Amino acid sequence: MEFIIVTEQYEPGIALIQLNRPKELNALNRKLMEEVRDTLQALDKNEQVRVIILTGNEQAFAAGADIKQMADKSAIDMLLIDQFSTWDQIRKTKKPIIAAVSGFALGGGCELAMMCDMIIASESAKFGQPEIKIGTIPGAGGTQRLTRAIGKAKAMELILTGRFLSAEEAHFYGLVNKVVPVEMYLHEAVALAREIAQMSPVAVQLAKEAVNRSFETHLDEGLAFERKNFYLTFASADQKEGMQAFIEKRKPQFKGH
Ligand code: HXC
Repeated sequence: MEFIIVTEQYEPGIALIQLNRPKELNALNRKLMEEVRDTLQALDKNEQVRVIILTGNEQAFAAGADIKQMADKSAIDMLLIDQFSTWDQIRKTKKPIIAAVSGFALGGGCELAMMCDMIIASESAKFGQPEIKIGTIPGAGGTQRLTRAIGKAKAMELILTGRFLSAEEAHFYGLVNKVVPVEMYLHEAVALAREIAQMSPVAVQLAKEAVNRSFETHLDEGLAFERKNFYLTFASADQKEGMQAFIEKRKPQFKGH
């Protein structure tokens, strides 16, 4: 890997992907995104991994798609390059992904953080969709995901002005799960990952899928989908173990099947 650092077992059950183009504030060039995609696909298949953390460094989660790589492209170049197929594949990751964000999460960087399932932010985190300032608009889901996350009024303001949202504001508007001091953001993400890693991975996967479905469907369809996944957990040994352990007043031992 050229632009990311992967630690498959950062802790038992927890994998860490660190974006690693520090001089360019982790600007997301296509190779970097392909590396993230390939890594997520491999981690999804790795039975030792239950939760994935995606992070950058203190200065930047990612300051956006690589402007230098896009600047001279025509619309047809962009169409044929089809970089968003990589993003679509990232979105299909079944295991939970926690973004640990410090510093800039802008443009594609904000969109990548929002594609994760939860966001832990450092006090220095800044979220924004500043594409409007360089004559374009968000292309990897910003207009959709930011609006769903923080509501129309604030999303419209950020997307039309390019203003940034501080970590505190991002927390207030529900974009992030928690804000902690800079030296704590990775620890906090790991603590969250650790808690989830103890659950039945089958149930975690089915729950993630059902929550995400709520963005795609009407309530009736979403409820039917949830019910199907709920019933499906009863096909797992983990459900039997979880309920039996509760009855026997002991800690469950989830096996992942
Ligand atoms: C390429 C970038 C970059 C980017 C920063 N750099 N952001 N290179 N693409 N998105 C590079 C700079 O060119 C510079 O390289 C180095 O990183 C440090 O950046 P500075 O600007 O010198 O740092 P600073 O003054 O601290 O300003 C930080 C910043 C600013 C406010 C984050 O860099 C900035 O505005 N970046 C662009 C943010 C943006 O517009 N993002 C949206 C991109 S479009 P050199 O070589 O000069 O040292 C997008 C569309 C998504 O994301 C579509 C889907 C993929």
